[in-house]
Amino acid sequence: MNLHVAPPPTPPETTIVVPLRHPDHGSVVAAIRTAVLADLPAVNRLHHRSALASRTARYFSPRRELREIEWRRQVNARRGRTWVTSTSAAPDDVLGVVQLLRTEHEGEYDLGLMVDDSWQGLGLGTALTVMAIEEGRNRPDCRSITALTGTGNARMLSILRGLGARFHDQQGNTITATITGWRSA
Ligand SMILES: CC(C)(COP(=O)(O)OP(=O)(O)OC[C@H]1O[C@@H](n2cnc3c(N)ncnc32)[C@H](O)[C@@H]1OP(=O)(O)O)[C@@H](O)C(=O)NCCC(=O)NCCS
Repeated sequence: MNLHVAPPPTPPETTIVVPLRHPDHGSVVAAIRTAVLADLPAVNRLHHRSALASRTARYFSPRRELREIEWRRQVNARRGRTWVTSTSAAPDDVLGVVQLLRTEHEGEYDLGLMVDDSWQGLGLGTALTVMAIEEGRNRPDCRSITALTGTGNARMLSILRGLGARFHDQQGNTITATITGWRSA
């Protein structure tokens, strides 16, 4: 008889809840939790329904979805942390993804995020960014957080500016934002 019983899956950790007011759905609560490998299909559905402009703003290329090998890297705790967001209005859909992942530069993490088109402009991107930066502050090896963004990405620039980012290294229509200062370099 095989006595090996697999442990029950650990419930995905809810990191933070954000109250939002959506023009169609009214008052909803966005739950942000650590992403797991099994989230890839929902994350790719988010990509599939996102406008080309949104995907290009995120990746600087017209990416349609993430490959499993990429998602595996993004949810690998040794590389940093990725979160997904769902709401009480659409619990099976991922409406936002944010990640804070180590770069090849020691002490530096990269921030990247994407919010569902129909949930943009409601404060979710700000909440996701604030949460990811808080995570960076709490990581002993994180001295700075960078984000590559489009020079015309008004929402992202506004979020980063509001968090005290320094903008540098403009190349064509992209610019790097760096957030630092909580730990001596
Ligand atoms: C950029 C993005 C993550 C922002 O998320 P969001 O949920 O739409 O952002 P928020 O609702 O928190 O708004 C952020 C800021 O934009 C402002 N804003 C909202 N709607 C706006 C609009 N239509 N035009 C310009 N600014 C707007 C908000 O007032 C806020 O500014 P504040 O910080 O000065 O208050 C989201 O739009 C997105 O996923 N875009 C596509 C992918 C992308 O660009 N990723 C970032 C590159 S890493």
